[in-house]
Amino acid sequence: MAETNLQVLLRRRPVGAPVPEDFEIVETPVPTPGPGEVLVRARFLSLDPYMRGRMSEAKSYAQPVPLGGVMEGQTAGEVVASNAPGFAPGDTVLGGSGWQRFSCVTPARLFKIDPGEAPLSASLGVLGMPGLTAWVGLEDIGTPKAGETVVVSAASGAVGQVAGQIAKIRGCTVVGVAGGEKKCRFVTEELGFDACIDHRGDLRAGFDVHCPGGIDVYWENVGGDVQREVFPRMNDFGRMVMCGMIAEYNDTQVRPGPNLMAVVRKRLRIQGFIVSDNGWPRYPQFRREMVGWMKEGRMQWREDVVDGLRRAPEAFIGLLKGENFGKLVVRIG
Ligand SMILES: NC(=O)c1ccc[n+]([C@@H]2O[C@H](COP(=O)([O-])OP(=O)(O)OC[C@H]3O[C@@H](n4cnc5c(N)ncnc54)[C@H](OP(=O)(O)O)[C@@H]3O)[C@@H](O)[C@H]2O)c1
Repeated sequence: MAETNLQVLLRRRPVGAPVPEDFEIVETPVPTPGPGEVLVRARFLSLDPYMRGRMSEAKSYAQPVPLGGVMEGQTAGEVVASNAPGFAPGDTVLGGSGWQRFSCVTPARLFKIDPGEAPLSASLGVLGMPGLTAWVGLEDIGTPKAGETVVVSAASGAVGQVAGQIAKIRGCTVVGVAGGEKKCRFVTEELGFDACIDHRGDLRAGFDVHCPGGIDVYWENVGGDVQREVFPRMNDFGRMVMCGMIAEYNDTQVRPGPNLMAVVRKRLRIQGFIVSDNGWPRYPQFRREMVGWMKEGRMQWREDVVDGLRRAPEAFIGLLKGENFGKLVVRIG
């Protein structure tokens, strides 16, 4: 029987938290690559919080997925056919597109990778967009210096685990924030953070104990109560790397914000960034440095692997509730 493409489409726009009925799974013919295009077969699909934004029509830095369109996402897999110079059938690549088994892509964002360097799924996490995000955000905005105190929220997640470990490599005291005892233990015992605060417990007491000298760099992944607790504890000339606010992605109303006068008084630097602004041209440099840390045993990572593209919607819904433990990827059969 001829192979088909399996695709997950956006059926309707969610209000609040997404539900399974917002998605539709269809089988379609395998596409044919046009001139200059590469046909990629996905082996792993990355599921990431930003996808919640693409399901919404609210104004953002990127266009929403159209209703009936394939959900946006990055995959790692292999080249099946190529009309583009530099890519040949059998090449292992990062940069396939969408919640689907096959996609036709142009080479602009397609990276040929060495399958011997690390397991393929790592190219969607520690060696992929989340790892690149952590690296770029710390290089450009956080600029952690030895001896400083760095706080990382969603510390066991895809971005947080890498951001905290890079800050450790830079000689900082690193305090994570994560949900539950199991995740907190992983953050300290396996990732090597100095401490981890459970955001389901007493946040205030946690910060009193673990950040007695205040916070120099805050890596913001969640917003909500964690951000409100961190903000007044920022030291003079602190840097807040505004990466994301996942705790607020399903909100239907904007929450009241912190008093930003402290930004002036303490000369804080708070900067938002999107990894796609200037991250991907630096991907080869990032990958070289990260592979080096991995080989030296200085970088650990944890993945949460879900089997089968049909399970992608439920896995993504769980991600927005903190049910994933580590970088969430879908293995595509
Ligand atoms: N700016 C950029 O270019 C860029 C690029 C990539 C990612 N991001 C952002 O970075 C953040 C982390 O992404 P990621 O890929 O590393 O995701 P992730 O951490 O792998 O998964 C999300 C984690 O966030 C936490 N979380 C979920 N809902 C929460 C809630 N309501 N309150 C508090 N914590 C909650 C959960 O951890 P706990 O159980 O520990 O709370 C969950 O495991 C997100 O905000 C994402 O949008 C930004």
